[in-house]
Amino acid sequence: MKTQRTKIASLLKATALDVDILAKGWVRTKRGNKHVSFIALNDGSSIHSIQVVADPSVISEDVLKGITTGASISVEGKLVASQGAGQNVEITATAIEIIGSADPEKYPLQPKKHSLEFLREIAHLRPRTNTFGAIFRMRHAMSYAVHKFFNDKGFYYWHTPFVTGSDAEGAGEMFRVSTLDPINPPLTEDGKVDYSQDFFGKETNLTVSGQLEGELGALALGEIYTFGPTFRAENSNTTRHLSEFWMIEPEMAFYDLKDNMDLAEEFLQFLCQYALDNCADDLAFLEQRLLDEEKNKPQVERSPMTLTEKLQFIIDNPFERLTYTEAIQILKNSKPNKKGKFQFPVEGWGTDLQSEHERFLVEKHFKKPVILTDYPKDIKAFYMRMNEDGNTVGAMDILFPGIGEIVGGSQREERLEVLTSRMAEMGIPEEEMDWYLDTRRFGTAPHSGFGLGFERLMIFVTGLSNIRDVIPFPRTPGSAAF
Ligand code: 4AD
Ligand code: MG
Repeated sequence: MKTQRTKIASLLKATALDVDILAKGWVRTKRGNKHVSFIALNDGSSIHSIQVVADPSVISEDVLKGITTGASISVEGKLVASQGAGQNVEITATAIEIIGSADPEKYPLQPKKHSLEFLREIAHLRPRTNTFGAIFRMRHAMSYAVHKFFNDKGFYYWHTPFVTGSDAEGAGEMFRVSTLDPINPPLTEDGKVDYSQDFFGKETNLTVSGQLEGELGALALGEIYTFGPTFRAENSNTTRHLSEFWMIEPEMAFYDLKDNMDLAEEFLQFLCQYALDNCADDLAFLEQRLLDEEKNKPQVERSPMTLTEKLQFIIDNPFERLTYTEAIQILKNSKPNKKGKFQFPVEGWGTDLQSEHERFLVEKHFKKPVILTDYPKDIKAFYMRMNEDGNTVGAMDILFPGIGEIVGGSQREERLEVLTSRMAEMGIPEEEMDWYLDTRRFGTAPHSGFGLGFERLMIFVTGLSNIRDVIPFPRTPGSAAF
């Protein structure tokens, strides 16, 4: 008897046949007749299930009855060459034990028939489907790739706080962290809530970015990166926004804006290559899923490339680099703008780009990833380095097909006087930022960094169209289930 369990991914790759094995997993399907049952067993280690062949003269009727979709079972048997098409190996069962039954009357059968939206509401079923299994295995692989990229370059993983007293992006879209009684909070003399009596002795929020704390790391350790959850209380109900998302923020001393762009481009190409090299089975499944989904769409709405072609395309094509000012010129003169096809017409210099504009530049005009630089100072955060023209800052946003902005970054303002006068202009109190300004007072240095939204990357590498489908437990306005 075999007591050491082997994962199904290894069994499917095994070359030694006719050996005793033990497998455990969840039943995907059972079919057959009174002479034989075929069970598709999956344990999460691969997109592929293994076929278990159960002979009713060996496996009792009682046990066979309990083998229903969703049940967890343990199978002892022999790994043999498969007689049927579709798989190389299968298990001839000698003993099966039901570990956890799943009542067929109550179990939501046929998971593959459910829509992605419906599955979002069934927390236990969602990760057991082929689609979400593939997505979440890839999510793991891409997380590992992020750490590998930076570790191999000598960057340090720098942990920044989730609870902070500062608003890094200055957008004021933060979730308050408080233990005060909401019904009867302590008040100051002028009737405001007295946060000096709160848990931390001051107002605190969940972080919108680890960047400011990241800068302290870079200006000591040289090159750091953060990779953690990020919280934004913006009321954006789109397919590209989450209220809780994961962000990767590298920060590098002695890098200018060009060094920053070079690193970001290399990073994104590395991640696409990593997916191609390490996630072939899951990618093949997701590529087919996308083809099936798009079959029903009119030709013009279908992707011009398959999923793997799209990844290869990112690797093969240097990103187009141009300034915001040049981009506005292109957009103003573009066909959709002249024909009034943009929801937000591009009129002049100074306004922020909408995702329809970003996607036009990437998908229609340049037909490759684009890095836009040197944005107007008024639409960017206080910490970005002022350019000589006095109107623009050393910002860079990377735009991807189907997504729009995937990376936002900048060279940071390292000159104390320029930084403090920017803060004064924008009404950011200096006292609260003293800890940050000290980096500019003592041994300041040019430095740069950027933020990659991990779920935006995941939409890109999986070909899913809604950001809620690439995170196990999505949080969006009005929804924080499970
Ligand atoms: O452009 P953002 O706001 O930049 C920063 O937070 C800087 N502190 C980054 C830095 O320079 N260290 O956000 C960076 C990226 C965006 O490009 C986008 O990919 C992602 O984070 N992002 C979101 N992803 C999902 N849901 C949201 N609500 C997001 N907001 C930003
Ligand atoms: Mg941004």
